[in-house]
Amino acid sequence: MSTLTSGGRAALASLDAELAYAAFERHYAHAPRWLASAPGRVNLIGEYTDYNGGYVLPMAIEPRTIVAAAPNDSRKITVHSEALAATVTIDLTKGLAPDPRGRWSNYLRGVVCGFLKLGALVPGFNALIHSTVPVGAGLSSSAALETSIATLLEAMAGMKLEPLQKIALCQTAEHVFAGVPCGIMDPYICTLARAGHALLLDCRSQEAVWLPFEDPEVAILIVNTQVRHELAQGEYAMRRRACEEAARALKVATLREASLERLRDRARDMSDTALRCARHVITEIARTERAAQCIAERDWHTFGELLDASHESLKSDFNVSSPELDLLVGAARDLGPRRGVYGARLTGGGFGGCAIALIEARKREEIRASIAAAYQQGTGLEPQFLISRPSAGVSILEV
Ligand code: GLA
Repeated sequence: MSTLTSGGRAALASLDAELAYAAFERHYAHAPRWLASAPGRVNLIGEYTDYNGGYVLPMAIEPRTIVAAAPNDSRKITVHSEALAATVTIDLTKGLAPDPRGRWSNYLRGVVCGFLKLGALVPGFNALIHSTVPVGAGLSSSAALETSIATLLEAMAGMKLEPLQKIALCQTAEHVFAGVPCGIMDPYICTLARAGHALLLDCRSQEAVWLPFEDPEVAILIVNTQVRHELAQGEYAMRRRACEEAARALKVATLREASLERLRDRARDMSDTALRCARHVITEIARTERAAQCIAERDWHTFGELLDASHESLKSDFNVSSPELDLLVGAARDLGPRRGVYGARLTGGGFGGCAIALIEARKREEIRASIAAAYQQGTGLEPQFLISRPSAGVSILEV
């Protein structure tokens, strides 16, 4: 274990890495050989723009998914999830298909399948998942797991992928094995995040700019509604189809190429849902570009206004908010800049999960107390709070 604490590899020299190592040893009665660690993420702004070729502006967060693993001299992969107290076994001599009851194990199956398709020699191995990324909270626990497993497989199969290839492999796993036709934002940020930076990603060119985001005077307060969000229930896919319908009616490849003016002109050629979804996407792409400038200029007032406008658009046009999210965002916004809240919005896919607020760091305690009181009064639920600095992307350590 000395390598863990003396190696100076910040992302892995952590208590959680040590816990993952120890839990693996307890479970399998031998030591792991690798620890792969990937972060969760929070999207600051740019929601539902990724699969429309637009901009997104996420940052990785400190909670991480750590997978400890060692080869096992068989043709079987055995993975134990500590949180779920569940074990999955995959037989590499048989074909891999999504398991309708598989849930989390499908992320694993999907990534293994991606490597096999590339011709990788995937050995049998034992693994244990230790994660501090809340599941179903819109903080990308699935991409954290996929990118950890993919990074582990690179090491085990001796096959290093280009980052964009690894990102696409994880996205395909999500499409085919989890049934969510997601964009590239989540595996991209989990793979390529840099500590202290938010990432402005152009999802059309797949090129990113890392923006320093470490002003000690402000913080991103993440608030979990404690209501699970589920993306696989068809709502996500339905909106993606509405965006595609709008793009077709506007005769553009993606909504990135569309404008509000053109949308107004062609409004009659599409359904009301498509019109509203497109209006959200077009305005959200513009907000995201502007928000990136605000980070560079430390213009937190304007950044906050953009967050507020993003929430309104996600609620009224894209229709992915929920009463709990509206309540949290309303409670934060009621405080306003005078009491330290610049702006707030739902983050991630919506339908539950988390909201974020851009706040004055020194007022964090009062802000938390007042949001918690309003939320408890309105729902009877206790929200969970997290303040995280922008963290680093996936990494692996041979131990
Ligand atoms: C989920 C998807 C992402 C993105 C967001 C909404 O997190 O995985 O690709 O579409 O929803 O912005």
